[in-house]
Amino acid sequence: MSSVTLQIEASPQAVAQVSAKLILEALHSADGPFSIALAGGSTPRRLYEELATQPEAPWAKARLFLGDERALPLGHADRNSTMVERTLVRPLGLDTSQVFLPTAGQEDLHAAAEDYEAQLLAVAGHPPRLDIVLLGMGGDGHTASLFPGHSAPSGWVAAVSAPEETAAARRITLTAASLISAKRVFVLVTGASKAQRLADVFEGRDEGPLAQILEGRSTETRLIVDMAATARLGTHKED
Ligand code: 6PG
Repeated sequence: MSSVTLQIEASPQAVAQVSAKLILEALHSADGPFSIALAGGSTPRRLYEELATQPEAPWAKARLFLGDERALPLGHADRNSTMVERTLVRPLGLDTSQVFLPTAGQEDLHAAAEDYEAQLLAVAGHPPRLDIVLLGMGGDGHTASLFPGHSAPSGWVAAVSAPEETAAARRITLTAASLISAKRVFVLVTGASKAQRLADVFEGRDEGPLAQILEGRSTETRLIVDMAATARLGTHKED
């Protein structure tokens, strides 16, 4: 994980503020369109709310994607697009032409994945070189909708199934290849509940999707974490 930097911040709010600063700096310095894939879940909510406090930033350059989406009806509370629209898109008044959301919710999820892949490649190139990808980490080591024990999908965007106990079993996700080829990746991890998994991933004991993506990265990759999530770092004892 030579390109992976562990960046430890005091609190979840500090993680959001530091991440927002990095994204805004990149947005300001972008010469042309600035493409970013947003993470779902709960951790990045604070970050999106923080970004929404900066309406004067050159948001017209931004091209927003979702790293993954649950196959639920538009507006469903468990859709990542619902959270992103509420915390970021609507407060900033972003134009729909710069926000690329999967049409998940359709019956034919493979067609929706192909359509989203075409949009991704049209904006980020082929292979897709997103300017920034934001990721979270599930307690099981999943990221986006790439889950341990599930076969790793090929291509750049795929229709996948998630474990039954998750918010939605059918999903669309950027694949590991898309996440590995991005220019910069920021993985946001907060809370004591993630501490053991974070230690296992960062210290090379985990072989799940996030660990594999981190291993494959060769350009800037930051694990931006709060103190609570670092509680198990350096505590592993070999059997
Ligand atoms: C999803 C997310 C997912 C998320 C992790 C962490 O759609 O479920 O994209 O990959 O990042 O599950 O979620 P929390 O931030 O809520 O812990």
